[in-house]
Amino acid sequence: MTRMGKEPAKIEAQLTFPPLDESHYSLRPKDAAFYKKLTGIEDDVALKQHILNVQQKAYKVAPYGSILLLSFLRRNLSELPAYQQIVRIGRTRKNPLLLDIGCCFGNVLREAVFDGFPASGAIGSDLHQELWDLGHELFKSSPETFPGHFVGGDAFDPEILAVAPPATAAVPIPDLNNLTSLNPLHGCFSVIHATAFFHLFKEDRQLHLARAFAGLLSAESGSVILGAHVGAQEKGTVNKVFNGVEVDMFAHDPESWIAMWDGEVFQKGTVKVEAELRQETYGAVETDGHPLSLFWSVTRL
Ligand SMILES: C[S@@+](CC[C@H](N)C(=O)[O-])C[C@H]1O[C@@H](n2cnc3c(N)ncnc32)[C@H](O)[C@@H]1O
Repeated sequence: MTRMGKEPAKIEAQLTFPPLDESHYSLRPKDAAFYKKLTGIEDDVALKQHILNVQQKAYKVAPYGSILLLSFLRRNLSELPAYQQIVRIGRTRKNPLLLDIGCCFGNVLREAVFDGFPASGAIGSDLHQELWDLGHELFKSSPETFPGHFVGGDAFDPEILAVAPPATAAVPIPDLNNLTSLNPLHGCFSVIHATAFFHLFKEDRQLHLARAFAGLLSAESGSVILGAHVGAQEKGTVNKVFNGVEVDMFAHDPESWIAMWDGEVFQKGTVKVEAELRQETYGAVETDGHPLSLFWSVTRL
């Protein structure tokens, strides 16, 4: 049950939930360096055991493919084409706020903080508070040593995130302690990140989320919403099996994704949208048969 006593949404986009399999564990040197630095575990065998222990607990909470395939082990944020924008905002804006929606362990927030984004402005949101708590176990941190904030709940619940029109002027940032909703933060975020999130939902629900995120974004030029998820050459249903995970997802193509943001969500001409399809995966170990990935960003002009 979630914080509000409501049933968590079902995982509709994934049809199969294979058992955990250690062979998915593979750390690239830059990911190993990141995890060793943050956990303080230098020994490769001990690090692997630690990560697999947390993965096992998390998979019981929510059996997502991203947990099965250990895609949270990859420094995905830094591979997004707009990453340098985030780094610049984190280092130069006054009190910048970063939201990671569907944040799971909070690994992306930690990646941004590692590269200089102020932890006090990092906010994660997810259906499952347990995954955020397991993030502290994974990174051997505590709310004191990692002072990022967490808002638990369903992104479709208007008490957590109501749709509001895009901000047109600067909005004062409220006290971030003890937040229970994202609504007080309409117009406040410099950066909103959502990876492996939109593809969990069908087309109309993706549009709803896009509108909701647009309402959270700061009016300041350069503010950005970005991420990566399953895409397609032509928008429609993607039904595939990879690594034993069968997905049944709605996927946009780059043109339809751009048209949705620039015209439907934001007034046409007020944002620059970039979207590119890549053969590579944004998270899991590369495998044949993985769907195409859409890497994208929406920047306020
Ligand atoms: C596939 S995982 C992706 C996690 C992470 N963003 C990544 O790229 O590895 C999706 C995450 O979104 C969360 N989630 C799913 N539905 C949600 C909803 N309706 N509202 C908020 N979070 C949700 C899940 O609990 C999970 O942590």
